Amino acid sequence: MVVIEKVDKHFGELHVLRDINTVVTRGEVVVVIGPSGSGKSTLCRAINRLETIDSGSITIDGVPLPEEGKGLATLRADVGMVFQSFNLFAHKTVLENVTLGPIKVRGMKKKAADEKAMALLDRVGVANQASKMPAQLSGGQQQRVAIARSLAMDPKLILMDEPTSALDPEMINEVLDVMIGLAAEGMTMIVVTHEMGFARKAADRVLFMDGGAVVEEAKPEDFFTNPQSDRAKDFLSKILEH
Ligand SMILES: Nc1ncnc2c1ncn2[C@@H]1O[C@H](COP(=O)(O)OP(=O)(O)OP(=O)(O)O)[C@@H](O)[C@H]1O
Ligand SMILES: [Mg+2]
Repeated sequence: MVVIEKVDKHFGELHVLRDINTVVTRGEVVVVIGPSGSGKSTLCRAINRLETIDSGSITIDGVPLPEEGKGLATLRADVGMVFQSFNLFAHKTVLENVTLGPIKVRGMKKKAADEKAMALLDRVGVANQASKMPAQLSGGQQQRVAIARSLAMDPKLILMDEPTSALDPEMINEVLDVMIGLAAEGMTMIVVTHEMGFARKAADRVLFMDGGAVVEEAKPEDFFTNPQSDRAKDFLSKILEH
């Protein structure tokens, strides 16, 4: 579904993505892990074309990422993105946050959009918060709304960039449970996370990045129990100390 070939990117002198090659198949859950500054967010942003690339290609369902215009709007609608900071619209209710895209971009009628949004809010466990403003919700609840909002567009693929790292520990599991549920239902997902529990339970594959390159690519079990490269061993020993 997503084919990434020979992708390179620089920020000025900094070589942030180095010859990235990987294929994500439909229904696959890929966890991207690696030290700070290794290029994980840049890779995610490149897949949604929030960042341009210098060379190489990224295709989704065989179509190269559009550069601008209607094609780009379609891409953004088809590829959900959930960020570390929830990015909800502060001046809209929870329900409106979820219905906005379907109404504006997909041309759905308000009543149908409301019904769909309520079903999604129910699924992520926050239906009783629908009429509140985002600031009235906990971080975990806001992140679940953000996930419902991206699901409301019926995305082909969801990218998540450290979706739980801004949350208090007691709220992490409620968001991870929603993510594990999505994975189990066959959603195609690329998730930047250091949550090993999620990787072990839900991921088909781990990509370990360092210095802008994919250094190691393995099944979660193999990666966590038997990392091959010194850089992965060193990284895992650091995160396991926590
Ligand atoms: N817009 C930008 N302009 C210049 N440099 C950037 C920009 N965005 C990111 N960088 C640099 O590119 C490198 C990769 O950044 P990126 O955000 O992709 O790393 P990351 O792996 O997501 O790190 P973290 O775990 O801290 O989120 C870093 O050195 C960062 O400082
Ligand atoms: Mg990042």
